[in-house]
Amino acid sequence: MRHTKVKDLLNSSTTLQEINAKGWVRTFRNNQFIALNDGSTINNIQCVVDFENTSDEILKRITTGAAVSVTGDLVESKGAGQKYEIQVKKLEILGDSDAEKFPMQPKKHSLEFLRENAHLRVRTNAFGAIMRVRSVLSYAVHSYFQQKGFVYVNTPIITGADAEGAGEMFQVTSLPLDNLPKNEEGDIDYKKDFFGKHTNLTVSGQLEGETFAMALGQIYTFGPTFRAENSNTSRHLAEFWMIEPEVAFNDLNDNMDLAEDFIRYVIKYTMEKCPEDLKFLEGRLLEEEKTKPQAERSEMTLLEKLNFVLENNFKRVSYTEAIDILRDSTPNKKKKFQYIINEWGADLQSEHERFLVEKHFKSPVILFDYPANIKAFYMRLNEDGKTVRAMDILFPGIGEIVGGSQREERFDVLVEKMKALGIDEEELWWYLDTRRFGSSVHSGFGLGFERLVLFVTGMTNIRDVIPFPRTPQNADF
Ligand code: 4AD
Ligand code: MG
Repeated sequence: MRHTKVKDLLNSSTTLQEINAKGWVRTFRNNQFIALNDGSTINNIQCVVDFENTSDEILKRITTGAAVSVTGDLVESKGAGQKYEIQVKKLEILGDSDAEKFPMQPKKHSLEFLRENAHLRVRTNAFGAIMRVRSVLSYAVHSYFQQKGFVYVNTPIITGADAEGAGEMFQVTSLPLDNLPKNEEGDIDYKKDFFGKHTNLTVSGQLEGETFAMALGQIYTFGPTFRAENSNTSRHLAEFWMIEPEVAFNDLNDNMDLAEDFIRYVIKYTMEKCPEDLKFLEGRLLEEEKTKPQAERSEMTLLEKLNFVLENNFKRVSYTEAIDILRDSTPNKKKKFQYIINEWGADLQSEHERFLVEKHFKSPVILFDYPANIKAFYMRLNEDGKTVRAMDILFPGIGEIVGGSQREERFDVLVEKMKALGIDEEELWWYLDTRRFGSSVHSGFGLGFERLVLFVTGMTNIRDVIPFPRTPQNADF
């Protein structure tokens, strides 16, 4: 018998005869009431078991985590909190679950414990909600760009280029590690490697994306990127998903407009499609807030925060203005909020970013025109010769969510910059061709997908918004 999704049963407009539902038992109360979840919604459906006519042997096997199939009628529920329930006529245990051993007990588990059980944590309410929201957000990403006529480009995962010039790459090789071939100089002979050269996992699809933007006009990538940066923080993953639009003839202001419009669209879309999951996550967050001292509690609920982003323009502030603000701000000792007063030219630390966003502007901020020496080689040099047309979008509770720029379209300036940084022109000959043939102003940005999911779900650790996180010393699943 074909089963009906719990979501459809709960949203049914009438009672129904002879339906079948399949899912996993969350709880079994009084030898009678199963809370059944099938992942289609955060809500369980109550299944009322005819315990008098069910064998003890079967009743004993209805345990948390077991997979069951229930057949019966969808009737109006007498209990509070649900419109319908299933009056079970036939119950089948599809897969037993040893109640003693099943790690996902019907109680609150710590997030650390759940991370150690990443393969099972998705059976909890919170992770079910997070993963459904993540899925809808990724659909929203495609929906936004496709509606606007952007072309989706799949840039390579294995590449010879270090797009960010930061040297944080995972190497890819087919060479036998216990017997590496050496050349005459005694170095590893990558000519003998699979691709005949040294390769790595991509840190960004931008450079390849630019070549496509210079033909197709507007493109976007959305794929996994890899960084071997040893940052064990709640904002960094070694494998994360990035969305990188690139648009020919856009300058930095157009780029900011696009980023803002895009972020608003995907948040609005997800709020419309996932009201129940977001309500649940908001409730979860409120509970968590209650455990904090008053002064540290968030002033807004999750949905208020999301609405704030929809209704208010991001504050656009140059790096130089930001440094002035930081310099003029007195550390608030009472709240133990201390930060080093920054000098022009230094990179902002996350505590500076948080101060600007959370204390000073109380709004998402777009910082632009950064000092050239702290940003990547491909960014457009300003006429002052010191700053580049870079932009970072900073979000409350997250920090940097977007990094982007107008690109250096002038061949000579770009080559000079690469030389100064020791970036091999020969390696990037194909990238330089975009500047040789029909170069023009163009811009793009990268949005870290997990950081967006963090913001939308109100979670605080990036390990909790990706199915199987990869972080230093952790690739267990
Ligand atoms: O600022 P990033 O390094 O910029 C680029 O990669 C450019 N090529 C983007 C472009 O202009 N097309 O990274 C972009 C974003 C960051 O703002 C952040 O949200 C996310 O990617 N990000 C990470 N997310 C999770 N874990 C990490 N280790 C991340 N590193 C960057
Ligand atoms: Mg960045």
